Amino acid sequence: MFTFAIPNKGTSYMATNIIEKLKWRYATKKFDAAKKLSEAKLNILIESFNLTATSYGLQPIKMVVIGNDDVKRKLLPLTMNQQQVQNASHVFVICTETKMDAEFIKDNFNLVEETRKTPRAILDPFEAFIVDEFSEKSKASIDTWMAKQAYLALGNLLTVCALEDIDACPIEGFEPEKYDQLLNLHALGLKSVVVLAVGYRSNDDLFSGLKKVRRGVEEVVIKIS
Ligand SMILES: Cc1cc2nc3c(=O)[nH]c(=O)nc-3n(C[C@H](O)[C@H](O)[C@H](O)COP(=O)(O)O)c2cc1C
Repeated sequence: MFTFAIPNKGTSYMATNIIEKLKWRYATKKFDAAKKLSEAKLNILIESFNLTATSYGLQPIKMVVIGNDDVKRKLLPLTMNQQQVQNASHVFVICTETKMDAEFIKDNFNLVEETRKTPRAILDPFEAFIVDEFSEKSKASIDTWMAKQAYLALGNLLTVCALEDIDACPIEGFEPEKYDQLLNLHALGLKSVVVLAVGYRSNDDLFSGLKKVRRGVEEVVIKIS
């Protein structure tokens, strides 16, 4: 059976087990407020967020990690009163940059240069290509592109949560502008895109016992062999 190991963590996941874990996960409606994520678990999620692949590797996303009960309580009315944001151990607010310009792209290439010692002669044409491409896009299409990267991080986190036995609920039902205001995100050059509540399911969450509703794989996958 295929297995893979995470270096230095001593954890290994079996391929068949991954499907079981993905079946175990569900959009948690009721968290046990008394159960908190350990620092180690929280750090796995934070690292996973940062390891998410992004288009061109530009990482136009950041994540606000909220463990503070007062702040979580304030999020409740801004989240259609969805109790998850209050009862979850932590609430992640995945954000995108408010500005994606040549300077941001340059900073990213400087990081590549510094990290990999790649000569500027190799990086410069690629950087110019990306700057040029973005200069032709509208603000709306750049925002959409950035939001896609935020959702990719959300998907990545959902899978990692499942593998790590952490419950989670992705949340689109919130008021982004009000989140931005409460968390002062504009001052950080950010705006909220999607939310993820993480923690541990309450024993009496009715949704944990419900069957998964999915179309058959033969319906959603078109194989060309
Ligand atoms: C992007 C996204 C946004 C979602 N927003 C909410 C939400 O605001 N509140 C909620 O209770 N569930 C939300 N969900 C959960 C979905 O309803 C749920 O994932 C879907 O019904 C499939 O069920 P399962 O995740 O339990 O398998 C969201 C899911 C995704 C992927």
